[in-house]
Amino acid sequence: MKILLSSDQLREGVERLAGEISTYYLGQPLTVVGVLTGSVVLLADLIRQFELPLRVGLVQASSYRDSTMPGELAINTDLLPDIRDRHVLLVDDIFDTGHTLDRLTHKLRALGPASLRSAVLLRKHGRKATAIEPDHVAFEIPNEFVVGYGLDYRDMYRNLPYVAAIEPGEL
Ligand code: IMP
Ligand code: MG
Repeated sequence: MKILLSSDQLREGVERLAGEISTYYLGQPLTVVGVLTGSVVLLADLIRQFELPLRVGLVQASSYRDSTMPGELAINTDLLPDIRDRHVLLVDDIFDTGHTLDRLTHKLRALGPASLRSAVLLRKHGRKATAIEPDHVAFEIPNEFVVGYGLDYRDMYRNLPYVAAIEPGEL
């Protein structure tokens, strides 16, 4: 594995991200919605940087493993608090093709939030396949498969305190 972002770099990047988001919301009450499972590490670090009235919710988004349709997702909103008339920030680990954020945005918009924005730890270059853009991005990365700090390969490696690229030969 090749380390792309050390834990020190991640800490700085998350602080920067939190600063940008705090400046945007200027103390308004916020509902932060993490996307399970990849966002949990970022979510825990991010919310502790905020000094604003905060609620936390979760949604689950998982790709249908056997589907032939790219970007087809199962979305579970059972763990979501009522977001009607709330300012909502969706938090995910990585923006790759953008399908996950696109689908989640449509789903949450239908629940009537006052506003809906998004923040991701990573944006992968050269993969975007949707019109949507994440509003806040901590790091831009090259088109490599990465694990750690919440990101998995077959549900493993989420606990690594750094972000590493897996070489194709290692998969
Ligand atoms: P998108 O829908 O293509 O933007 O992909 C977003 C989801 O795909 C993320 O929430 C991750 O679960 C997964 N994903 C995309 N790229 C990677 C990666 O390099 N490592 C681990 N998971 C990834
Ligand atoms: Mg994920």
